[in-house]
Amino acid sequence: MKGVILAGGSGTRLHPLTRITNKHLLPIYDRPMISYAIEALVLAGINEMMLVTGGTHAGEFLRLLGNGHEHGIDRLSYAYQDRPGGIAEALGLAERFVAGDSVLVMLGDNIVERTFRPTVEHFARQGGGARIVLTEADDPAHLRHLGVPEFDAERRITHIIEKPEDPPSNYAVTGIYCYDPSVFEVIGTLEPSGRGELEITDVNNYFVDQRTMSYDILDGFWGDAGESIDAYYAVNDFVRENGANKG
Ligand code: DAU
Repeated sequence: MKGVILAGGSGTRLHPLTRITNKHLLPIYDRPMISYAIEALVLAGINEMMLVTGGTHAGEFLRLLGNGHEHGIDRLSYAYQDRPGGIAEALGLAERFVAGDSVLVMLGDNIVERTFRPTVEHFARQGGGARIVLTEADDPAHLRHLGVPEFDAERRITHIIEKPEDPPSNYAVTGIYCYDPSVFEVIGTLEPSGRGELEITDVNNYFVDQRTMSYDILDGFWGDAGESIDAYYAVNDFVRENGANKG
């Protein structure tokens, strides 16, 4: 399985901090944000990965991560996204790198307390389709900024709503996704959303409709450090006190 970490986008919710650097290079406690996603993938057993970034600070990632060997990565590739055309568009840039393998995708602003290695293992046994990681979130105001799944009576996901006015459950879709190689064909069929982006939620709903979508519920803390300046500091406080990426 290959890994893809997405670290493009414009980071407008963290302006003016992100006028001078890429969001994923901002510190979380004692390290640049992106280091946590790298470490999380390595801990999950993935050692071939691609980092997709964009904007004016892309070169800094190379300076920080180099060939990745110091971070336990065997092969680290890079891709450049010309404009922030959405998470699914950014993933599409990794098609040739993934080269017919399955892929684990992580959004570079997501931080986890505990490893999602079990999800990688479950997906390997699943025999294709997609698998996502959910986290429990009780505050509707928080859920309105995220993807939120709707379940049937058997607790299967029936639909995912991106940034719902009225959240249909108390779970959020984290930025951790596993896909079989057909994901790149699905991305090829997408139309831009109202905000002009190719949405990862549309990709996920394709697999939901095919009834090939499964999920795990993450153990421990999950944070999206790019959601708002308050979320950024909440993630910093959590990591400083408790650490992250525990086995
Ligand atoms: O963090 C979890 C949430 O991430 C999910 O609950 C949502 O369903 C999902 O759509 C996403 O929502 P966000 O509003 O947080 O996405 P955002 O635009 O902040 O992008 C998330 C990451 O993806 C960010 O770290 C940078 C990367 N990205 C984003 C865009 C728009 C790219 O690499 N390229 C892009 O064009």
